[in-house]
Amino acid sequence: MSRGDQTRRVWTLRGASTEYTVAVPEVPEHGRWLELVAWGPHGVSDGPSPVGYDGPTPFLTAGDAAPIEYATDANRPFTGPDLVVETATGDRRVSWRWSHTEADADQRQLTVGFADPVTGLRAVIRYEIPAGTDVVRRWVELTNDGPAPLRLVRAGSAGFCVPTPHGARLSYQWGQWAQEFQLDHVDLGHGGFTIGSAQGVPGHLYVPWLAVRDNAEPDGPTWGMALAWTGSWEITADRDTGGLTRVRVGRNLPDGPLDLPAGASLTLPVAAGAYSPDGLDGLARVWHTYQRQLAGERLSPRPVLYNSWEATYFAVDADNQLALARIAADLGVETFVVDDGWFVGRPDDHGGLGDWTPDPAKFPAGFDNFVKEVRALGLNFGLWVEPECVSPRSKLYAEHPDWVYAIDGRPITPVRNQYLLDLGRPEVAEFVHSTVDGLLRRHDIGYLKWDFNRPRTEPGRGGAGGRVDLDGAHVANLHRIYRDLRRDHPHVVIEACAGGGARTDLAMAALSDVFWPSDNTGPLDRLAIQYGFLHANAPHLLSSWVTDSPGLFDPRPRSLAFRFVLAMAGVLGIGADIRHWSPEQRTEAAAWIARYKEIREIVMHGTVHLIGGPDQSRCAVQYTSPDGGTVVVLAWHTGRLDGAGLLPSRPVRLPLRGLDPAARYRHDERHYSGSHLQSVGLPVHWTATHDAELAVLQRV
Ligand code: GLA
Repeated sequence: MSRGDQTRRVWTLRGASTEYTVAVPEVPEHGRWLELVAWGPHGVSDGPSPVGYDGPTPFLTAGDAAPIEYATDANRPFTGPDLVVETATGDRRVSWRWSHTEADADQRQLTVGFADPVTGLRAVIRYEIPAGTDVVRRWVELTNDGPAPLRLVRAGSAGFCVPTPHGARLSYQWGQWAQEFQLDHVDLGHGGFTIGSAQGVPGHLYVPWLAVRDNAEPDGPTWGMALAWTGSWEITADRDTGGLTRVRVGRNLPDGPLDLPAGASLTLPVAAGAYSPDGLDGLARVWHTYQRQLAGERLSPRPVLYNSWEATYFAVDADNQLALARIAADLGVETFVVDDGWFVGRPDDHGGLGDWTPDPAKFPAGFDNFVKEVRALGLNFGLWVEPECVSPRSKLYAEHPDWVYAIDGRPITPVRNQYLLDLGRPEVAEFVHSTVDGLLRRHDIGYLKWDFNRPRTEPGRGGAGGRVDLDGAHVANLHRIYRDLRRDHPHVVIEACAGGGARTDLAMAALSDVFWPSDNTGPLDRLAIQYGFLHANAPHLLSSWVTDSPGLFDPRPRSLAFRFVLAMAGVLGIGADIRHWSPEQRTEAAAWIARYKEIREIVMHGTVHLIGGPDQSRCAVQYTSPDGGTVVVLAWHTGRLDGAGLLPSRPVRLPLRGLDPAARYRHDERHYSGSHLQSVGLPVHWTATHDAELAVLQRV
């Protein structure tokens, strides 16, 4: 029988405008795997599969070339499996056969089961497309029903297959501390491309996000992958000789294999796949819709906040914080956040972590009294914490030296002078939960900034009782604590931070309200960071502060207007030392904050178009209200300011998107057709003093 004689069972999942079709080939593969038939717009499955292959595979196996959804090393021995299982005798190549499928009537959920009669391993591959989205969520549950222990040498979550007949164009985001979310691209002819983290946290170096498209159509159909995992991870893309790009997404296991004892189960993290016909920009909107859904009822506008970190650093005291809070309240700020330095033993970053008691020397009239005074100004109150970390000089470490990650007999590597608590231990999880819960119960707190300032170095806890899945246990407890805190304190807004943006993944997007994407608030650096960030994340997740000029990292001068318009692209905050702002600056700031409050519903809920880029002469973000009636455009002058506007030149044109070409739009006193705005663009004339624009257009 030739491979062309296949029979197979087929199931289709349907999203808002996409479909995802998979099949179990029965003959001749006898149900050994599940494979992709098509993934794209509605109707894409009606025709020959763009990813299927039934030709010869000399010196390979059929599975190596097949678009397998979740491959063991028995299925795909040479071109890269998602799962590698080792038996007690050290054998690999564990394989399975299809056992059952459950599909729901509205084509949004699918479960496909496989079982291995030899080892007793069972795998359940689950799919779900949340209503109204074009994101397919996939995860795998593994159960060892056999008598002997198994070990997972590789434990990926999913393989995503993308047709790239003319070469693959990959987009990814790299970075480092203070330079996160740098959007970059690579052309993959043949071979592999890998990004990931071995830090026990998503990390600054790469974002667990990838976009793939065919080289011949860089602005056309685009597929995206992301992982909901707040620990170590890996995304690998391989393009084979037949033009198929297969993307493996899942956990990274730098500390060694995972044990799966007899009778045990393990659920691997959710990998998400997104499809857009409209390039990277369209793909961003698919992710935004999904994350807005994850936020659910919590998708209300986040407060305009003031954070005192850059104004006072560790030298926090009631007087200076209240001085800042009074001015902030006058400007229209809604929440006042005291950052690091409020607790005992914290004059700098050498001590204090672990001892989460307000420093009485800094709040002589009592912390609650201080909070009351902040609240009396009409402000909500927020606090910074970093509960998973501990200073070697703290009381907590003196009492519980065994609570930190450490390898017996080896020194612990300090990072930022601190150690990391082993959150996977129940007693540590209990400490972290009760510490934060206690703070929220004792004090009148409405906002929490949860930080995490070091990666895991020495894993520890080997030996007795077998290996522990440290990463899995840490992440599971972190997520559980977040869930419990949100359940018990639903009105507390949680900002997730890890030395800037090292903890942004789809799991945290569901469990926190907003991300602090970077410590770098220098205007032009920040622009590049936010531009990358918004490709993977919705605006409600983008916390951004207006800070002082010149900045810490990026001294290139820009106006106060530029800084405000930039911070208004997401969730506006102020981080400057506003005690030193002139009356004119304060008046201007108050006006910007008032304008932000007028547009923020559209920033939260609007359809986003990313126009140009931070290294282009035109750079803007467009937000169109859900009813299409209001269009907010934020634009920035990215070039040199000296000389700008001196030489005769035409204005820059910002081509808007997604408008009704036949409709008319009003901006100030001018009217434009939608057609003009899309084909020619909204004019902006940059000068040395006019370097940012906030334009609100109304459909007339
Ligand atoms: C990290 C955060 C900053 C600030 C400091 C405090 O670096 O990213 O925003 O909170 O910690 O120590």
